[in-house]
Amino acid sequence: MYNIAVAGTGYVGLVAGVCFAEVGHQVTCVDIDEKKVSLMKSGVSPIYEADLEELMQKNYVAGKIDYTTDYKSAYKDADAIFIGVGTPEQTDGSANLSYIATVARQISETIEKDCLVVVKSTVPVGTNDKVEQFIHDFLVNDVKVEVASNPEFLAQGSAVHDTLHAERIIIGTESKWAEELLMNIYDPFNLPIVSVNRRSAEMTKYASNDFLALKISYMNDIANLCELVGADVQEVAKGMSFDERIGSKFLNAGIGFGGSCFPKDTKALDYIARQNGYELRTVKAAIDVNKDQKTLLYKKASKRLITFNGLKVAVLGLTFKPGTDDLREAASLENVPLLLEHGANIYAYDPAGTENFAKVHPEGKDSKGSITYVSNVEQALNGANVCFIFTEWGEIKATNPEIFKELMRTPLVYDGRNIYRVEDMQKAGVEYHSIGRKP
Ligand code: UGA
Repeated sequence: MYNIAVAGTGYVGLVAGVCFAEVGHQVTCVDIDEKKVSLMKSGVSPIYEADLEELMQKNYVAGKIDYTTDYKSAYKDADAIFIGVGTPEQTDGSANLSYIATVARQISETIEKDCLVVVKSTVPVGTNDKVEQFIHDFLVNDVKVEVASNPEFLAQGSAVHDTLHAERIIIGTESKWAEELLMNIYDPFNLPIVSVNRRSAEMTKYASNDFLALKISYMNDIANLCELVGADVQEVAKGMSFDERIGSKFLNAGIGFGGSCFPKDTKALDYIARQNGYELRTVKAAIDVNKDQKTLLYKKASKRLITFNGLKVAVLGLTFKPGTDDLREAASLENVPLLLEHGANIYAYDPAGTENFAKVHPEGKDSKGSITYVSNVEQALNGANVCFIFTEWGEIKATNPEIFKELMRTPLVYDGRNIYRVEDMQKAGVEYHSIGRKP
């Protein structure tokens, strides 16, 4: 078992740290935020994620994991330091690597024994080479240090499960020593390991995420065409899914992909390509389709209704997908301001995202409209003139079609997640508009 330090306690770092502890390693998670560190020490997870808190508490009590702001003590005798800090998108689409650079500098100044630095954050191809050079340039003690790439493939909402039962672990190393050490660290997970060179590992992350983003945008494009030619995108997707070469996952058309990864990683790869004098036309197309898709329902509803001014608008779902309180790049963030600008009185319900959304749009008068946060679907629908569904939470999916007819003033529903069967909504007397299916 190894002594592991993890830099950054966001989705990537914290989940990795907890899972390393769970399989038996001794883990110290480092974060600069003292409040966050004391929260984690008290057994509270700073992020909304299934199973995470339970494993944090169990491993903390067992002495397998600790949290600190004192990076020096965490790094100095670590066998491996995993970097899981953010690489946010900059205005030109490139990744901001300043957090990685800060951690690299701290590592070079503190390590006292041979150590493998493992970059888990999504970084442009070639970054690991630079991080290694940077650490060597600033290294204080005479120790061996190498950098390995180990991109993360977990999805929010199922992060712990995705880590403990990953379909593959990608390790990118440049020496036998680094490869063996990383393989040994992952050995207790008992999962397939793909060992490649560092640049291939970095590229695999972008290529995988962007392929999935492309798949979604392709289905959204097909959905829009389905509407025009009278086909049903869900039937089409079902037909496609039986072909194993296509597969059944990520074929759901909707209001575009959100989250902290696909939007950022498509733009980042497009930027990397441009920097290298290449135009990545497929990924650019995925970005373009996604941009239009986000406000598609708003545009449709604007044509159908003369105005939103003074209308009671029910908004069901605010987060970028179910199972998380994360709002990053969520369709709600684009549609709600448009509705407010046009005078809508919004009644919004989300099982987990309300608190975060209220930080951007506090309850009350907002722009020319207003926003009220309610605690269930029924309260949002009560007396509404129109309803928008932005996230397919279980609580929202469980709403019977008759409820819309019963509670809304005018049962007019725009569903960005294709939750209902068109026939069921029609039978219930609801005017139902969805994605890629006939109204
Ligand atoms: C994504 C990848 O799925 C993970 O493998 C990857 O590790 C992660 O990014 C990352 O790079 O960290 P995540 O962003 O958490 O994970 O969420 P997804 O479940 O992939 O969903 C992303 C967006 O695509 C959501 O807005 C979702 O609603 C949308 N989506 C997904 C669709 O519109 N249709 C689909 O069929 C699937």
